Amino acid sequence: MNPVYILAIESSCDDTSAAILCNKQILSNIVANQEVHRNFGGVVPELASRAHLQNIIPVVAQAIHKANINKNQLSAIAYTNGPGLLGSLLVGTSFAKGLAIGLNLPLITVNHLEAHVLAHFIDNAGINNNTPEFPFLCLLVSGGHTQIIRVDNPSQMEIIGSTIDDAAGEAFDKAAKIMNIPYPGGPLIDKMAKNGNPDRFVFPHPSVTDLNFSFSGLKTSILYFLRDNLAIDTEFIEKNKDDLCASIQKTIVSILINKVCKAVKDTGIPRIAIAGGVSANSGLRQAFIDLEHSKGYTTYLPKFEYTTDNAAMIAIAGYFKYLNNNFASLDEVPFTRNK
Ligand code: KG4
Ligand code: ZN
Repeated sequence: MNPVYILAIESSCDDTSAAILCNKQILSNIVANQEVHRNFGGVVPELASRAHLQNIIPVVAQAIHKANINKNQLSAIAYTNGPGLLGSLLVGTSFAKGLAIGLNLPLITVNHLEAHVLAHFIDNAGINNNTPEFPFLCLLVSGGHTQIIRVDNPSQMEIIGSTIDDAAGEAFDKAAKIMNIPYPGGPLIDKMAKNGNPDRFVFPHPSVTDLNFSFSGLKTSILYFLRDNLAIDTEFIEKNKDDLCASIQKTIVSILINKVCKAVKDTGIPRIAIAGGVSANSGLRQAFIDLEHSKGYTTYLPKFEYTTDNAAMIAIAGYFKYLNNNFASLDEVPFTRNK
C-alpha cells in the first residue's frame, strides 16, 4: 500500500495547530499558542476565533514546509469538528473544507477527545516507546474534560466515568486564579509545587460515587481557606505559594488516582494511559509511574508534545478513520459538546 499522508488541523480551543502524518509517523506538528487570553484569566471565545483566523494559514503552510512534502502528496485532510468552542471550530472546519475542495481530497472529521486518547498510537509517542495494548483504560484530563474511558479499539471507546462539574484542568486553573497566578495556571502550579511541601495543607476529597469526579468543592474550600488566612495575614499566599501549590496538586492527583484504581478493579483491566493537557503534570505522571511499582499496572505516558492540544493527535485519529474509509461530507457541522 502507498504511504498515507494526512494533513490535520486542530482549532477547538485556544491553540491553532497543523500536522502532517505519514502512516503513523509525525513529520511535522506546529502549534501556535494564543497569548491574547493571558490577561483575562481564561479563554475569551471571540478572541480565540480571531486568533485562529490569523494563525491558520501560516501554521498550515509551516506544517507542510517542515514535513518537506508537496500538497499533491496528501491523501486526506482531517480536522477537529468538536467538542470545543463553536467559533474556533468553525475556522478549522471552513479552512479544511476549502482546502479539501481546492485540492480535491477526502475530508475526515475527528472528535477532539478521542484524538487525545489515540495520540498514544503515534510512532514513538510514549515515553517508553510502548504502545497501549487493547483493551486499556485512559484517564483523559484536560481543561474541559475529565473522563475515564475504556478503549477496545481505535473506533470503540466507552466513557465509564466523568466529572459532574469542573474538569481537572479547570480545578488547576481556578485554584491558580484565586492565588493570582496567570492563566493557564496548571503548568505554573506544577512548577511551584516542585519547591513546596505537599503535606503542609490538607484539602477535602469529594465523595462522589461510581467512577465520576467532582472538583467544584475543592475550588470552594481553597477559596474559603485562603480568605480566612488572608484575614489574619495579607501576605499569606505570597509567603506560602509553593506549599499551597504542592498541596493543591497532591489533592487533585490523589482524587484522580483513587478513581483510576477503582476503574481497574471494576473492569479488571490493569493497563492505563493518561491523555490531555493535565497529563503533562509532573505529580500525576509520577503517581502513574508509582502505580506500576505498587500495583503492578502497565501504564502509558505520552511525550509532552502530545499532552496539550496539538494536531498530531488529530492526524493519527484521522489515519485510523482513513483506513476504515470513514470519510465526511461537506455538510458536516461542528458541535460544541459530546452527545
Ligand atoms: O488538553 P488541553 O491542552 O486543552 C483542552 O482540551 O482543554 O488542556 C489544557 C489544560 C489547562 O487547564 C492547563 O492548565 C492544563 O491542561 N495543564 C496542566 C499542565 N499543563 C497543562 N495542568 C497541570 N499541570 C500541568 N503541567
Ligand atoms: Zn484538548
